[in-house]
Amino acid sequence: MVKNTPVVVIGASGFIAKNVRKYLSKNNIKLISISRKNFKKFKNETKIITKNYDEKIILPKLKNSEVLIHLVGIGKQTINDDYNLTNTEFTKKIIDLCKKSKIKKIIYFSGLGVSKNTTLGYFISKYKAERQIIDSDLDYVIFRPSYIVGKDDSFTKYLKQQIKTGQINIPGSGNYSIQPIYIDDVSQIIFNVITQSKQSKMILDLVGSESITFKKYIKEFSSRTNTKIKKINLEIVYHKAISEPQSEFGVDDLNLLIGNFKGNHKKLKNTFKIQFTSIRKLLKSGSLL
Ligand SMILES: NC(=O)c1ccc[n+]([C@@H]2O[C@H](COP(=O)([O-])OP(=O)(O)OC[C@H]3O[C@@H](n4cnc5c(N)ncnc54)[C@H](OP(=O)(O)O)[C@@H]3O)[C@@H](O)[C@H]2O)c1
Repeated sequence: MVKNTPVVVIGASGFIAKNVRKYLSKNNIKLISISRKNFKKFKNETKIITKNYDEKIILPKLKNSEVLIHLVGIGKQTINDDYNLTNTEFTKKIIDLCKKSKIKKIIYFSGLGVSKNTTLGYFISKYKAERQIIDSDLDYVIFRPSYIVGKDDSFTKYLKQQIKTGQINIPGSGNYSIQPIYIDDVSQIIFNVITQSKQSKMILDLVGSESITFKKYIKEFSSRTNTKIKKINLEIVYHKAISEPQSEFGVDDLNLLIGNFKGNHKKLKNTFKIQFTSIRKLLKSGSLL
C-alpha cells in the first residue's frame, strides 16, 4: 500500500528503530525518520533532527505519509524524563501531529504485560498511551513486545560485556521466563503491516514461539564461553536498582522479569504467517556470540 508514500519513524536512533529502518529501506520503503540527535541515514530516507519535536519543523516535511511508527519510549525514569511525560503525554502530541498531517495509522510499541488491571507505573503509562491511540479515530496496530533480541540491543550488549569479565550475575533464582523475539522477525512484521494494510485496529503480543527461563537463556547464551553464572539475592539486586541509577538492572527491568509475562504467539503467527526464528537458532546464529 504505502510503497510510494513515506513512512514516518519517530525515536529513529533507538535500537528497534535502527533495525526496522534498515530493513524497510532495503525493501524500498521511503522513510521520514525523526530523532532528537543526528544519525546515519539509509537509502530512501529523509532525516529530521528536532530536540522537542517542534511542529513548525516537522509538519512542513510530512507530506502524503499514511503511516507513523512510534518508537519513542523509556523504561527507566529520571526527574527530567518520567513515564507520564515520555510514554503518555508524548503520545498525545504524536496523535495530534498525525491528525494535522493527515497520517491515518499509528504502529505503536507498548509492552508485554500491559493491561487495564496493571499496578506498575511503567505499564500504566503505556496503557494510557494505548488508550489515547485507540480513542483517537486513527487506525492502529499496537504491539506488546516481550524482549526483542538482536546484535545491538542493550541487554545482549550487557551480556557480551559480562562474558568478557568471566561472570554473569542473574537476579534471584532466574526461574522466571521471557519470550524473546528476533529483531529481524519484528522488522518483517512491520513491513507486512505497512505493505499489506490488512491489520486494522489490532493489539498483538509481539512474542517469539517459546518461553524460556531467564536462567536457561543466560546458560545457552554463554554456553560456548567459559562464563560463571551467579545468582544474586533479589533483595540485593533491588536495593542496587533503587539506590544506584547506573545499576545494570533498573527497578522496572526487574519488575518485568519477575513478572513472568507470557504472550499469545499463536495470534501473532496467524496474523502474519511468517517463519519465526526459534530461540535456539537465535542464540546459535553466531550473531549473538
Ligand atoms: N527493545 C525491547 O525489547 C522492547 C520491549 C518492549 C517494549 N519496547 C518499546 O519499544 C520502543 C522502542 O524501544 P527500543 O528498544 O528501540 O528503545 P531505545 O533504544 O531506548 O529507543 C527509544 C527511543 O525513544 C526516544 N526517546 C526517549 N526519550 C525521549 C524523549 N523524552 N523525547 C523524545 N524521544 C525520546 C529516543 O529516540 P532518539 O534518541 O532518536 O530521539 C530513543 O532512542 C519503546 O517504547 C520501548 O518501551 C521495547
